[in-house]
Amino acid sequence: EEENVGNARQQLAKLFEVSLRRIVPDEQDVAPVIAASTGKFGDYQCNNAMGLWSKIKGKGSEFRGPPSVGQAIMKNLPDSEIIESCSVAGPGFVNVVLSKKWLAKRIQKMLIDGIEKWAPQLPIKRAVVDFSSPNIAKEMHVGHLRSTIIGDTLARILEFSNVEVLRRNHVGDWGTQFGMLIEFLFEKFPNIEDVNESAIGDLQAFYKASKQRFDDDPAFKERAQRAVVSLQGGEPLYRNAWLKICEISRKEFHKVYERLGVHLEEKGESFYNPYIPGVLKELSDKGLIEESQGARVIFLEGFNIPLIVVKSDGGFNYASTDLAALWYRLNEEKADWIIYVTDVGQQQHFNMFFEAAKRAGWLPTDGALKPKVTHVGFGLVLGEDGKRFRTRSSEVVRLVDLLDEAKDRSKKVLVERGWTEQELNQIAEAVGYGAVKYADLKNNRLTNYTFDFDQMLSDKGNTAVYLLYAHARICSIIRKSGKNIDELKQTGEIVLDHDGERELGLHLLQFSENVEETCTNLLPNVLCEYLYNLSEVFTKKFYSNCQVVGSREETSRLLLCEATAIVMRKCFNLLGIEPVYKI
Ligand code: ARG
Repeated sequence: EEENVGNARQQLAKLFEVSLRRIVPDEQDVAPVIAASTGKFGDYQCNNAMGLWSKIKGKGSEFRGPPSVGQAIMKNLPDSEIIESCSVAGPGFVNVVLSKKWLAKRIQKMLIDGIEKWAPQLPIKRAVVDFSSPNIAKEMHVGHLRSTIIGDTLARILEFSNVEVLRRNHVGDWGTQFGMLIEFLFEKFPNIEDVNESAIGDLQAFYKASKQRFDDDPAFKERAQRAVVSLQGGEPLYRNAWLKICEISRKEFHKVYERLGVHLEEKGESFYNPYIPGVLKELSDKGLIEESQGARVIFLEGFNIPLIVVKSDGGFNYASTDLAALWYRLNEEKADWIIYVTDVGQQQHFNMFFEAAKRAGWLPTDGALKPKVTHVGFGLVLGEDGKRFRTRSSEVVRLVDLLDEAKDRSKKVLVERGWTEQELNQIAEAVGYGAVKYADLKNNRLTNYTFDFDQMLSDKGNTAVYLLYAHARICSIIRKSGKNIDELKQTGEIVLDHDGERELGLHLLQFSENVEETCTNLLPNVLCEYLYNLSEVFTKKFYSNCQVVGSREETSRLLLCEATAIVMRKCFNLLGIEPVYKI
Protein backbone atom coordinates (compact mmCIF):
# COMPACT_ATOMS: atom_id res chain seq x y z
CA GLU A 1 0.00 0.00 0.00
CA GLU A 2 1.33 3.37 -0.94
CA GLU A 3 1.16 5.87 1.86
CA ASN A 4 -0.75 9.06 1.45
CA VAL A 5 2.06 11.57 1.38
CA GLY A 6 -0.44 14.29 0.57
CA ASN A 7 -1.83 14.34 4.10
CA ALA A 8 0.16 17.07 5.81
CA ARG A 9 -1.22 16.33 9.24
CA GLN A 10 -0.19 12.66 8.98
CA GLN A 11 3.23 13.56 7.63
CA LEU A 12 3.81 16.07 10.41
CA ALA A 13 2.64 13.57 13.01
CA LYS A 14 5.39 11.22 11.85
CA LEU A 15 8.05 13.91 12.20
CA PHE A 16 6.85 14.94 15.64
CA GLU A 17 6.70 11.31 16.67
CA VAL A 18 10.42 11.06 16.01
CA SER A 19 11.06 14.21 17.98
CA LEU A 20 8.99 13.05 20.96
CA ARG A 21 10.83 9.70 20.99
CA ARG A 22 14.08 11.60 21.12
CA ILE A 23 13.21 13.87 24.01
CA VAL A 24 11.14 11.50 26.16
CA PRO A 25 12.29 7.98 25.26
CA ASP A 26 10.71 6.59 28.42
CA GLU A 27 7.20 7.91 27.77
CA GLN A 28 6.00 5.36 25.27
CA ASP A 29 2.33 6.27 25.13
CA VAL A 30 2.48 9.86 23.93
CA ALA A 31 1.08 10.38 20.46
CA PRO A 32 1.73 13.66 18.68
CA VAL A 33 -1.29 15.98 18.61
CA ILE A 34 -1.31 17.97 15.41
CA ALA A 35 -4.00 20.50 14.64
CA ALA A 36 -4.52 22.68 11.60
CA SER A 37 -4.25 26.23 12.90
CA THR A 38 -6.23 29.23 11.81
CA GLY A 39 -3.31 31.14 10.37
CA LYS A 40 -1.28 33.89 12.00
CA PHE A 41 1.42 31.71 13.56
CA GLY A 42 1.53 28.88 11.10
CA ASP A 43 -0.39 26.23 9.23
CA TYR A 44 -0.27 23.48 11.84
CA GLN A 45 0.43 23.24 15.51
CA CYS A 46 1.82 20.52 17.75
CA ASN A 47 0.09 20.72 21.12
CA ASN A 48 1.95 18.16 23.19
CA ALA A 49 4.16 20.31 25.39
CA MET A 50 1.71 21.04 28.21
CA GLY A 51 0.45 17.50 28.60
CA LEU A 52 3.95 16.15 28.43
CA TRP A 53 5.16 18.60 31.06
CA SER A 54 2.58 17.47 33.57
CA LYS A 55 3.77 13.89 33.03
CA ILE A 56 7.50 14.48 33.37
CA LYS A 57 7.82 17.34 35.84
CA GLY A 58 9.29 16.28 39.18
CA LYS A 59 10.87 13.25 37.58
CA GLY A 60 14.20 15.04 37.58
CA SER A 61 13.80 16.09 33.98
CA GLU A 62 15.96 18.82 32.48
CA PHE A 63 12.89 20.87 31.44
CA ARG A 64 11.76 24.02 33.20
CA GLY A 65 8.17 24.16 32.01
CA PRO A 66 5.96 23.69 28.96
CA PRO A 67 7.73 26.31 26.83
CA SER A 68 11.06 24.56 27.25
CA VAL A 69 9.42 21.24 26.38
CA GLY A 70 8.07 22.96 23.25
CA GLN A 71 11.54 24.25 22.39
CA ALA A 72 12.95 20.73 22.74
CA ILE A 73 10.21 19.26 20.55
CA MET A 74 11.00 21.82 17.88
CA LYS A 75 14.79 21.37 18.04
CA ASN A 76 14.56 17.60 17.78
CA LEU A 77 12.42 17.57 14.65
CA PRO A 78 14.18 15.71 11.86
CA ASP A 79 14.97 17.67 8.72
CA SER A 80 12.18 17.56 6.20
CA GLU A 81 11.20 19.16 2.94
CA ILE A 82 7.68 19.59 4.32
CA ILE A 83 8.56 22.27 6.83
CA GLU A 84 9.54 25.79 5.88
CA SER A 85 9.88 27.16 9.42
CA CYS A 86 8.90 26.53 13.03
CA SER A 87 8.36 28.63 16.13
CA VAL A 88 7.28 28.08 19.71
CA ALA A 89 4.48 30.18 21.16
CA GLY A 90 2.73 30.51 24.52
CA PRO A 91 2.78 27.40 26.65
CA GLY A 92 4.96 25.44 24.25
CA PHE A 93 2.84 25.27 21.12
CA VAL A 94 5.07 24.38 18.20
CA ASN A 95 3.85 26.18 15.10
CA VAL A 96 4.75 24.91 11.69
CA VAL A 97 4.75 26.76 8.41
CA LEU A 98 4.63 24.33 5.52
CA SER A 99 7.00 24.71 2.63
CA LYS A 100 5.21 26.19 -0.34
CA LYS A 101 7.47 24.24 -2.66
CA TRP A 102 6.30 21.04 -1.03
CA LEU A 103 2.65 22.15 -1.19
CA ALA A 104 3.00 22.94 -4.87
CA LYS A 105 4.64 19.60 -5.54
CA ARG A 106 1.86 17.66 -3.79
CA ILE A 107 -0.82 19.41 -5.82
CA GLN A 108 1.04 18.92 -9.04
CA LYS A 109 1.40 15.23 -8.27
CA MET A 110 -2.32 14.96 -7.57
CA LEU A 111 -3.05 16.51 -10.96
CA ILE A 112 -1.05 13.78 -12.63
CA ASP A 113 -1.84 10.75 -10.44
CA GLY A 114 -5.47 11.51 -9.67
CA ILE A 115 -7.27 12.53 -6.51
CA GLU A 116 -7.61 8.90 -5.39
CA LYS A 117 -4.06 9.29 -4.11
CA TRP A 118 -5.42 11.74 -1.54
CA ALA A 119 -7.79 9.20 -0.03
CA PRO A 120 -7.29 8.82 3.72
CA GLN A 121 -6.21 5.48 5.09
CA LEU A 122 -8.52 3.89 7.60
CA PRO A 123 -7.88 0.89 9.83
CA ILE A 124 -11.04 -0.74 8.46
CA LYS A 125 -11.34 -3.38 5.76
CA ARG A 126 -15.05 -4.03 5.41
CA ALA A 127 -17.99 -2.01 6.67
CA VAL A 128 -21.71 -2.52 6.63
CA VAL A 129 -23.70 0.66 6.18
CA ASP A 130 -27.32 -0.03 7.14
CA PHE A 131 -29.31 2.88 5.77
CA SER A 132 -32.56 4.05 4.16
CA SER A 133 -34.41 0.95 5.43
CA PRO A 134 -38.05 1.97 4.94
CA ASN A 135 -40.94 -0.23 5.97
CA ILE A 136 -43.01 -2.13 3.43
CA ALA A 137 -46.47 -0.75 2.82
CA LYS A 138 -45.91 2.04 5.29
CA GLU A 139 -44.83 5.51 4.29
CA MET A 140 -41.32 6.13 3.12
CA HIS A 141 -41.07 9.48 4.82
CA VAL A 142 -38.60 12.33 5.08
CA GLY A 143 -36.84 10.48 7.88
CA HIS A 144 -36.03 7.73 5.41
CA LEU A 145 -34.92 10.39 2.94
CA ARG A 146 -32.43 11.68 5.52
CA SER A 147 -31.22 8.16 6.21
CA THR A 148 -30.85 7.55 2.47
CA ILE A 149 -28.91 10.76 1.85
CA ILE A 150 -26.65 10.54 4.91
CA GLY A 151 -26.06 6.80 4.53
CA ASP A 152 -25.21 7.08 0.84
CA THR A 153 -22.66 9.81 1.56
CA LEU A 154 -21.03 7.85 4.35
CA ALA A 155 -20.85 4.80 2.10
CA ARG A 156 -19.30 6.88 -0.69
CA ILE A 157 -16.70 8.38 1.62
CA LEU A 158 -15.73 5.01 3.05
CA GLU A 159 -15.53 3.52 -0.44
CA PHE A 160 -13.28 6.36 -1.54
CA SER A 161 -11.11 5.56 1.48
CA ASN A 162 -10.66 2.03 0.16
CA VAL A 163 -13.03 0.36 2.59
CA GLU A 164 -15.20 -2.38 1.13
CA VAL A 165 -18.74 -1.27 1.88
CA LEU A 166 -21.81 -3.50 2.07
CA ARG A 167 -24.69 -1.12 1.49
CA ARG A 168 -27.63 -2.68 3.26
CA ASN A 169 -31.29 -1.80 3.04
CA HIS A 170 -32.74 -3.27 6.25
CA VAL A 171 -36.27 -3.05 4.92
CA GLY A 172 -39.09 -3.61 7.39
CA ASP A 173 -40.63 -6.52 5.49
CA TRP A 174 -41.67 -8.69 8.40
CA GLY A 175 -43.93 -8.34 11.37
CA THR A 176 -47.52 -8.50 12.47
CA GLN A 177 -48.75 -5.77 10.10
CA PHE A 178 -48.54 -8.32 7.28
CA GLY A 179 -51.37 -10.40 8.70
CA MET A 180 -53.73 -7.50 8.26
CA LEU A 181 -52.36 -6.54 4.84
CA ILE A 182 -52.65 -10.06 3.51
CA GLU A 183 -56.17 -10.58 4.83
CA PHE A 184 -57.21 -7.26 3.30
CA LEU A 185 -55.60 -8.24 0.04
CA PHE A 186 -57.59 -11.49 -0.02
CA GLU A 187 -60.78 -9.53 0.54
CA LYS A 188 -60.10 -7.07 -2.25
CA PHE A 189 -58.73 -9.58 -4.70
CA PRO A 190 -60.33 -12.99 -4.36
CA ASN A 191 -58.08 -14.02 -7.23
CA ILE A 192 -54.51 -13.25 -6.22
CA GLU A 193 -53.43 -13.17 -9.87
CA ASP A 194 -55.28 -9.88 -10.21
CA VAL A 195 -52.92 -8.19 -7.81
CA ASN A 196 -50.47 -5.77 -9.35
CA GLU A 197 -49.18 -2.29 -8.89
CA SER A 198 -51.89 -0.48 -10.77
CA ALA A 199 -54.67 -2.53 -9.18
CA ILE A 200 -53.52 -1.64 -5.69
CA GLY A 201 -52.57 1.90 -6.53
CA ASP A 202 -51.19 3.69 -3.55
CA LEU A 203 -49.79 1.19 -1.10
CA GLN A 204 -49.89 3.67 1.73
CA ALA A 205 -53.60 4.18 1.24
CA PHE A 206 -53.95 0.43 1.10
CA TYR A 207 -52.16 0.14 4.42
CA LYS A 208 -54.40 2.77 5.96
CA ALA A 209 -57.57 1.11 4.75
CA SER A 210 -56.51 -2.26 6.05
CA LYS A 211 -55.59 -0.74 9.39
CA GLN A 212 -59.03 0.82 9.56
CA ARG A 213 -60.61 -2.55 8.84
CA PHE A 214 -58.41 -4.15 11.50
CA ASP A 215 -59.46 -1.62 14.13
CA ASP A 216 -63.17 -1.70 13.25
CA ASP A 217 -63.96 -5.38 12.81
CA PRO A 218 -63.02 -7.92 15.50
CA ALA A 219 -63.63 -10.84 13.16
CA PHE A 220 -61.22 -9.35 10.62
CA LYS A 221 -58.73 -8.75 13.37
CA GLU A 222 -58.85 -12.38 14.35
CA ARG A 223 -58.37 -13.51 10.76
CA ALA A 224 -55.42 -11.14 10.46
CA GLN A 225 -53.79 -12.59 13.54
CA ARG A 226 -54.22 -16.10 12.19
CA ALA A 227 -52.74 -14.93 8.88
CA VAL A 228 -49.55 -13.91 10.68
CA VAL A 229 -49.20 -17.46 11.97
CA SER A 230 -49.85 -18.91 8.52
CA LEU A 231 -47.30 -16.59 6.94
CA GLN A 232 -44.66 -17.42 9.51
CA GLY A 233 -45.46 -21.10 9.10
CA GLY A 234 -44.61 -20.68 5.42
CA GLU A 235 -48.02 -21.50 3.90
CA PRO A 236 -47.66 -20.90 0.14
CA LEU A 237 -50.85 -18.86 -0.31
CA TYR A 238 -49.78 -16.44 2.41
CA ARG A 239 -46.19 -16.35 1.40
CA ASN A 240 -47.20 -15.55 -2.15
CA ALA A 241 -49.39 -12.67 -1.04
CA TRP A 242 -46.57 -11.35 1.12
CA LEU A 243 -44.15 -11.50 -1.82
CA LYS A 244 -46.60 -9.52 -3.96
CA ILE A 245 -46.95 -6.78 -1.41
CA CYS A 246 -43.18 -6.57 -0.96
CA GLU A 247 -42.64 -6.42 -4.69
CA ILE A 248 -44.99 -3.49 -5.15
CA SER A 249 -43.37 -1.61 -2.29
CA ARG A 250 -39.93 -2.32 -3.63
CA LYS A 251 -40.81 -0.74 -6.97
CA GLU A 252 -41.92 2.41 -5.17
CA PHE A 253 -38.70 2.63 -3.17
CA HIS A 254 -36.68 2.01 -6.25
CA LYS A 255 -38.10 5.07 -7.98
CA VAL A 256 -36.72 7.26 -5.22
CA TYR A 257 -33.32 5.55 -5.24
CA GLU A 258 -33.03 5.86 -8.98
CA ARG A 259 -33.66 9.56 -8.91
CA LEU A 260 -31.20 10.12 -6.13
CA GLY A 261 -28.57 7.91 -7.75
CA VAL A 262 -28.38 5.73 -4.67
CA HIS A 263 -27.48 2.05 -4.84
CA LEU A 264 -28.09 -0.36 -2.03
CA GLU A 265 -28.76 -4.01 -1.55
CA GLU A 266 -31.92 -5.15 0.14
CA LYS A 267 -31.52 -7.58 2.98
CA GLY A 268 -34.77 -7.04 4.76
CA GLU A 269 -35.77 -8.12 8.25
CA SER A 270 -37.18 -11.37 6.85
CA PHE A 271 -33.73 -12.37 5.66
CA TYR A 272 -32.47 -12.70 9.23
CA ASN A 273 -35.51 -14.58 10.48
CA PRO A 274 -34.00 -18.05 10.12
CA TYR A 275 -31.00 -16.97 12.20
CA ILE A 276 -32.98 -15.75 15.20
CA PRO A 277 -33.53 -19.07 17.02
CA GLY A 278 -29.85 -19.99 16.90
CA VAL A 279 -28.74 -16.56 18.04
CA LEU A 280 -31.21 -16.56 20.91
CA LYS A 281 -30.04 -20.01 21.92
CA GLU A 282 -26.47 -18.74 22.08
CA LEU A 283 -27.50 -15.79 24.22
CA SER A 284 -29.57 -18.05 26.40
CA ASP A 285 -26.70 -20.52 26.84
CA LYS A 286 -24.56 -17.63 27.92
CA GLY A 287 -27.10 -16.89 30.62
CA LEU A 288 -28.20 -13.55 29.22
CA ILE A 289 -31.88 -14.23 28.65
CA GLU A 290 -34.46 -14.27 31.42
CA GLU A 291 -38.20 -14.75 31.67
CA SER A 292 -40.16 -11.60 32.56
CA GLN A 293 -43.95 -11.21 32.50
CA GLY A 294 -44.29 -13.95 29.92
CA ALA A 295 -41.68 -12.42 27.61
CA ARG A 296 -38.03 -13.34 27.21
CA VAL A 297 -35.76 -10.43 27.91
CA ILE A 298 -32.19 -9.33 28.52
CA PHE A 299 -31.58 -7.09 31.51
CA LEU A 300 -28.80 -4.61 30.86
CA GLU A 301 -26.94 -2.40 33.25
CA GLY A 302 -27.61 1.29 32.76
CA PHE A 303 -31.07 0.87 31.22
CA ASN A 304 -34.31 1.06 33.12
CA ILE A 305 -36.14 -1.31 30.80
CA PRO A 306 -35.03 -4.74 29.62
CA LEU A 307 -34.45 -5.58 25.97
CA ILE A 308 -37.34 -7.80 24.87
CA VAL A 309 -36.17 -10.51 22.50
CA VAL A 310 -39.25 -12.76 22.45
CA LYS A 311 -42.66 -11.19 22.96
CA SER A 312 -45.16 -12.74 25.35
CA ASP A 313 -47.05 -14.19 22.36
CA GLY A 314 -43.89 -16.03 21.36
CA GLY A 315 -43.16 -13.79 18.35
CA PHE A 316 -39.85 -12.17 17.50
CA ASN A 317 -39.46 -8.42 17.24
CA TYR A 318 -37.27 -5.57 15.97
CA ALA A 319 -34.61 -6.32 18.60
CA SER A 320 -34.43 -10.07 17.95
CA THR A 321 -34.02 -9.31 14.24
CA ASP A 322 -31.30 -6.76 14.92
CA LEU A 323 -29.39 -9.18 17.13
CA ALA A 324 -29.54 -11.82 14.41
CA ALA A 325 -28.52 -9.27 11.76
CA LEU A 326 -25.57 -8.16 13.86
CA TRP A 327 -24.52 -11.75 14.38
CA TYR A 328 -24.73 -12.32 10.62
CA ARG A 329 -22.77 -9.19 9.76
CA LEU A 330 -20.01 -10.08 12.19
CA ASN A 331 -19.74 -13.79 11.50
CA GLU A 332 -20.91 -14.34 7.95
CA GLU A 333 -20.07 -11.02 6.34
CA LYS A 334 -17.01 -10.43 8.53
CA ALA A 335 -17.51 -6.71 8.75
CA ASP A 336 -15.28 -4.80 11.12
CA TRP A 337 -17.43 -1.67 11.28
CA ILE A 338 -21.21 -1.74 11.26
CA ILE A 339 -22.94 1.58 10.87
CA TYR A 340 -26.66 2.16 11.37
CA VAL A 341 -28.27 5.34 10.04
CA THR A 342 -31.62 6.16 11.67
CA ASP A 343 -33.30 9.02 13.49
CA VAL A 344 -32.00 9.74 17.00
CA GLY A 345 -35.31 8.50 18.40
CA GLN A 346 -34.01 4.96 18.00
CA GLN A 347 -30.82 5.57 19.94
CA GLN A 348 -31.88 3.62 23.00
CA HIS A 349 -32.76 0.57 20.90
CA PHE A 350 -29.28 0.59 19.38
CA ASN A 351 -27.48 1.24 22.64
CA MET A 352 -29.33 -1.64 24.22
CA PHE A 353 -28.62 -4.29 21.66
CA PHE A 354 -25.02 -3.07 21.28
CA GLU A 355 -24.68 -3.61 25.03
CA ALA A 356 -26.22 -7.07 24.77
CA ALA A 357 -23.73 -7.91 22.01
CA LYS A 358 -20.88 -6.83 24.27
CA ARG A 359 -22.18 -9.02 27.07
CA ALA A 360 -22.33 -11.90 24.61
CA GLY A 361 -18.69 -11.34 23.75
CA TRP A 362 -19.40 -10.40 20.14
CA LEU A 363 -17.93 -6.94 20.52
CA PRO A 364 -14.74 -6.01 22.36
CA THR A 365 -15.00 -4.68 25.90
CA ASP A 366 -11.27 -4.45 26.51
CA GLY A 367 -10.71 -1.27 24.52
CA ALA A 368 -9.88 -3.08 21.28
CA LEU A 369 -11.01 -0.99 18.33
CA LYS A 370 -12.53 -3.70 16.13
CA PRO A 371 -15.08 -4.87 15.36
CA LYS A 372 -17.09 -1.79 16.14
CA VAL A 373 -20.69 -0.67 15.81
CA THR A 374 -21.93 2.89 15.48
CA HIS A 375 -25.40 4.35 15.50
CA VAL A 376 -25.45 7.40 13.25
CA GLY A 377 -28.45 9.30 14.54
CA PHE A 378 -30.08 12.30 12.92
CA GLY A 379 -32.66 14.88 13.92
CA LEU A 380 -36.12 15.61 12.57
CA VAL A 381 -37.02 17.34 9.35
CA LEU A 382 -39.13 20.39 10.15
CA GLY A 383 -41.44 22.43 7.96
CA GLU A 384 -41.15 26.19 7.67
CA ASP A 385 -43.61 26.43 10.57
CA GLY A 386 -41.07 24.74 12.81
CA LYS A 387 -43.26 21.67 13.18
CA ARG A 388 -42.74 18.19 11.80
CA PHE A 389 -42.60 18.41 7.99
CA ARG A 390 -46.06 17.66 6.56
CA THR A 391 -48.17 18.66 3.59
CA ARG A 392 -50.90 21.29 3.97
CA SER A 393 -53.49 18.62 4.60
CA SER A 394 -51.11 17.34 7.28
CA GLU A 395 -50.32 14.23 5.29
CA VAL A 396 -46.88 12.73 5.20
CA VAL A 397 -44.93 14.28 2.33
CA ARG A 398 -44.38 11.83 -0.52
CA LEU A 399 -40.75 11.75 -1.45
CA VAL A 400 -41.36 11.61 -5.18
CA ASP A 401 -43.48 14.76 -4.95
CA LEU A 402 -40.74 16.46 -3.05
CA LEU A 403 -38.13 15.59 -5.64
CA ASP A 404 -40.48 16.66 -8.44
CA GLU A 405 -40.89 20.02 -6.82
CA ALA A 406 -37.15 20.46 -6.33
CA LYS A 407 -36.63 19.73 -10.00
CA ASP A 408 -39.46 21.97 -11.23
CA ARG A 409 -38.35 24.87 -9.13
CA SER A 410 -34.78 24.74 -10.33
CA LYS A 411 -36.02 24.38 -13.88
CA LYS A 412 -37.95 27.62 -13.55
CA VAL A 413 -34.81 29.45 -12.54
CA LEU A 414 -32.69 27.84 -15.23
CA VAL A 415 -35.15 28.34 -18.05
CA GLU A 416 -34.11 31.95 -18.44
CA ARG A 417 -30.56 30.96 -19.20
CA GLY A 418 -31.28 29.56 -22.63
CA TRP A 419 -30.68 25.85 -22.34
CA THR A 420 -32.00 23.25 -24.74
CA GLU A 421 -34.84 21.19 -23.33
CA GLN A 422 -32.68 18.11 -22.87
CA GLU A 423 -29.82 19.95 -21.16
CA LEU A 424 -32.34 21.73 -19.03
CA ASN A 425 -33.85 18.51 -17.72
CA GLN A 426 -30.52 17.08 -16.81
CA ILE A 427 -29.28 20.21 -15.13
CA ALA A 428 -32.52 20.84 -13.29
CA GLU A 429 -32.16 17.38 -11.78
CA ALA A 430 -28.52 17.90 -10.85
CA VAL A 431 -29.34 21.23 -9.24
CA GLY A 432 -32.68 20.27 -7.70
CA TYR A 433 -31.68 16.95 -6.17
CA GLY A 434 -28.25 18.30 -5.28
CA ALA A 435 -29.94 21.12 -3.39
CA VAL A 436 -32.09 18.70 -1.39
CA LYS A 437 -29.09 16.56 -0.51
CA TYR A 438 -26.78 19.41 0.37
CA ALA A 439 -29.35 21.19 2.55
CA ASP A 440 -29.57 18.03 4.59
CA LEU A 441 -25.87 17.20 4.72
CA LYS A 442 -24.52 20.63 5.58
CA ASN A 443 -26.11 20.60 9.03
CA ASN A 444 -24.70 18.61 11.88
CA ARG A 445 -26.89 15.53 11.44
CA LEU A 446 -27.86 15.43 15.12
CA THR A 447 -29.79 18.68 14.87
CA ASN A 448 -33.28 19.07 13.44
CA TYR A 449 -33.31 20.86 10.13
CA THR A 450 -35.87 22.98 8.40
CA PHE A 451 -36.86 21.99 4.91
CA ASP A 452 -37.10 25.19 2.89
CA PHE A 453 -37.08 25.13 -0.91
CA ASP A 454 -36.44 28.85 -1.31
CA GLN A 455 -33.42 28.72 0.90
CA MET A 456 -31.90 25.56 -0.53
CA LEU A 457 -32.38 26.74 -4.12
CA SER A 458 -30.90 30.17 -3.51
CA ASP A 459 -27.72 30.89 -5.43
CA LYS A 460 -26.29 32.81 -2.49
CA GLY A 461 -24.79 31.50 0.71
CA ASN A 462 -23.85 27.97 1.61
CA THR A 463 -26.05 26.09 -0.86
CA ALA A 464 -25.52 23.44 -3.52
CA VAL A 465 -26.63 25.92 -6.16
CA TYR A 466 -23.96 28.42 -5.17
CA LEU A 467 -21.30 25.72 -5.11
CA LEU A 468 -22.35 24.18 -8.42
CA TYR A 469 -22.19 27.61 -10.05
CA ALA A 470 -18.81 28.30 -8.46
CA HIS A 471 -17.47 25.08 -9.94
CA ALA A 472 -18.95 25.81 -13.37
CA ARG A 473 -17.34 29.26 -13.32
CA ILE A 474 -13.93 27.74 -12.64
CA CYS A 475 -14.44 25.37 -15.55
CA SER A 476 -15.29 28.29 -17.77
CA ILE A 477 -12.13 30.19 -16.75
CA ILE A 478 -10.12 27.20 -17.92
CA ARG A 479 -12.15 26.81 -21.12
CA LYS A 480 -11.87 30.47 -22.01
CA SER A 481 -8.09 30.45 -21.61
CA GLY A 482 -7.99 28.30 -24.73
CA LYS A 483 -5.19 26.24 -23.21
CA ASN A 484 -5.05 22.45 -23.21
CA ILE A 485 -5.16 21.76 -19.50
CA ASP A 486 -4.17 18.10 -19.76
CA GLU A 487 -1.01 19.11 -21.52
CA LEU A 488 -0.28 21.81 -18.93
CA LYS A 489 -0.60 19.24 -16.15
CA GLN A 490 2.36 17.38 -17.61
CA THR A 491 4.52 20.33 -18.56
CA GLY A 492 3.55 23.24 -16.35
CA GLU A 493 4.70 24.09 -12.85
CA ILE A 494 2.74 25.34 -9.87
CA VAL A 495 4.22 28.23 -7.93
CA LEU A 496 2.63 29.54 -4.71
CA ASP A 497 4.41 32.88 -4.27
CA HIS A 498 1.34 35.07 -3.88
CA ASP A 499 -0.46 34.82 -0.52
CA GLY A 500 -3.70 34.03 -2.33
CA GLU A 501 -2.07 31.19 -4.23
CA ARG A 502 -0.49 29.79 -1.11
CA GLU A 503 -3.71 29.91 0.87
CA LEU A 504 -5.59 28.13 -1.89
CA GLY A 505 -2.84 25.53 -2.17
CA LEU A 506 -2.91 24.82 1.55
CA HIS A 507 -6.67 24.49 1.55
CA LEU A 508 -6.57 22.10 -1.40
CA LEU A 509 -4.11 19.91 0.41
CA GLN A 510 -6.34 19.78 3.47
CA PHE A 511 -8.97 17.85 1.50
CA SER A 512 -7.57 14.55 2.70
CA GLU A 513 -7.64 15.29 6.41
CA ASN A 514 -11.17 16.65 6.14
CA VAL A 515 -12.34 13.47 4.46
CA GLU A 516 -10.60 11.55 7.21
CA GLU A 517 -12.36 13.53 9.91
CA THR A 518 -15.69 13.05 8.14
CA CYS A 519 -15.08 9.30 8.25
CA THR A 520 -13.90 9.08 11.81
CA ASN A 521 -16.83 11.01 13.22
CA LEU A 522 -19.30 10.08 10.49
CA LEU A 523 -20.20 13.75 10.09
CA PRO A 524 -20.86 14.77 6.46
CA ASN A 525 -21.19 18.42 7.51
CA VAL A 526 -17.41 18.50 8.00
CA LEU A 527 -16.93 17.80 4.29
CA CYS A 528 -19.62 20.34 3.34
CA GLU A 529 -17.90 23.00 5.39
CA TYR A 530 -14.60 22.16 3.76
CA LEU A 531 -16.16 22.44 0.31
CA TYR A 532 -17.82 25.76 1.05
CA ASN A 533 -14.60 27.19 2.48
CA LEU A 534 -12.70 25.99 -0.56
CA SER A 535 -14.97 27.91 -2.84
CA GLU A 536 -14.67 30.98 -0.59
CA VAL A 537 -10.87 30.80 -0.51
CA PHE A 538 -10.81 30.38 -4.25
CA THR A 539 -13.00 33.41 -4.91
CA LYS A 540 -12.03 35.80 -2.15
CA LYS A 541 -8.37 35.01 -1.56
CA PHE A 542 -7.19 33.71 -4.90
CA TYR A 543 -9.32 34.79 -7.83
CA SER A 544 -9.98 38.35 -6.67
CA ASN A 545 -6.24 38.97 -6.11
CA CYS A 546 -4.55 36.86 -8.72
CA GLN A 547 -5.28 37.49 -12.37
CA VAL A 548 -5.31 34.19 -14.18
CA VAL A 549 -5.71 34.47 -17.94
CA GLY A 550 -3.13 36.73 -19.56
CA SER A 551 -0.92 37.00 -16.47
CA ARG A 552 2.73 36.01 -16.23
CA GLU A 553 1.72 33.18 -13.87
CA GLU A 554 -1.05 31.98 -16.17
CA THR A 555 0.08 28.35 -16.39
CA SER A 556 0.49 27.89 -12.66
CA ARG A 557 -2.78 29.64 -11.95
CA LEU A 558 -4.70 27.63 -14.50
CA LEU A 559 -3.36 24.51 -12.81
CA LEU A 560 -4.60 25.81 -9.47
CA CYS A 561 -8.02 26.41 -11.05
CA GLU A 562 -8.00 22.87 -12.37
CA ALA A 563 -6.95 21.43 -9.00
CA THR A 564 -9.76 23.37 -7.30
CA ALA A 565 -12.29 22.08 -9.82
CA ILE A 566 -11.06 18.51 -9.29
CA VAL A 567 -11.29 18.72 -5.51
CA MET A 568 -14.72 20.34 -5.71
CA ARG A 569 -15.94 17.61 -8.04
CA LYS A 570 -14.64 14.94 -5.70
CA CYS A 571 -16.51 16.60 -2.83
CA PHE A 572 -19.68 16.71 -4.94
CA ASN A 573 -19.17 13.08 -5.82
CA LEU A 574 -18.76 12.09 -2.16
CA LEU A 575 -21.90 14.05 -1.30
CA GLY A 576 -23.84 12.34 -4.10
CA ILE A 577 -24.21 15.57 -6.11
CA GLU A 578 -23.82 15.70 -9.91
CA PRO A 579 -21.58 18.56 -11.01
CA VAL A 580 -22.45 20.92 -13.84
CA TYR A 581 -19.82 22.34 -16.13
CA LYS A 582 -21.60 25.31 -17.67
CA ILE A 583 -24.06 27.81 -16.26
N1 ARG B 1 -37.13 0.13 9.32
C1 ARG B 1 -36.63 0.96 10.39
C2 ARG B 1 -37.43 2.26 10.44
O1 ARG B 1 -38.09 2.61 9.50
C3 ARG B 1 -35.17 1.28 10.26
C4 ARG B 1 -34.24 0.10 10.30
C5 ARG B 1 -32.84 0.51 10.67
N2 ARG B 1 -31.93 -0.58 10.70
C6 ARG B 1 -31.84 -1.50 11.66
N3 ARG B 1 -30.98 -2.46 11.54
N4 ARG B 1 -32.61 -1.44 12.74
O2 ARG B 1 -37.39 2.95 11.42
